[in-house]
Amino acid sequence: MSVVKINAIEVPDTSAEELERRFAQRVGGVEKSPGFEGFQLLRPTEGGKRYFVITWWESEEAFTEWQTGRNFAKAHAQETGQAKPPIASGTELLSFEVVERIDAP
Ligand code: HEM
Repeated sequence: MSVVKINAIEVPDTSAEELERRFAQRVGGVEKSPGFEGFQLLRPTEGGKRYFVITWWESEEAFTEWQTGRNFAKAHAQETGQAKPPIASGTELLSFEVVERIDAP
């Protein structure tokens, strides 16, 4: 059964563009991680400040492997490195199991 992990990132208005730029220039790696099924970056449209990074994984273990491994560290180097200040003023990790999924035929 797939699991969904959503990183909800609170981003001040002044940093939204910079966040999207960082994602556009992301190092990548997540797509090579075992058990990865997909991800989307969602921009809020109703005035909220929380961007959602939705990720789909084959299993809880697949997500944990990525989060504790090199690909995660590389993808977040800009966030943790000294070169650029972190973009988020707050984050929350939401977790779900996929009960049902219907795709357009
Ligand atoms: C402290 C919490 C986190 C912050 C502030 C954050 C922010 C960011 C930013 C700004 C990027 C763009 C690349 C960069 O700037 O280096 C990024 C990449 C990414 N983040 Fe996070 N992130 C956090 C934790 C997480 C978590 C827990 C997940 C999983 C749900 C996640 C999922 C992703 C994915 C899938 C990418 C693209 C990775 C790739 O290209 O390989 N992030 N994150």
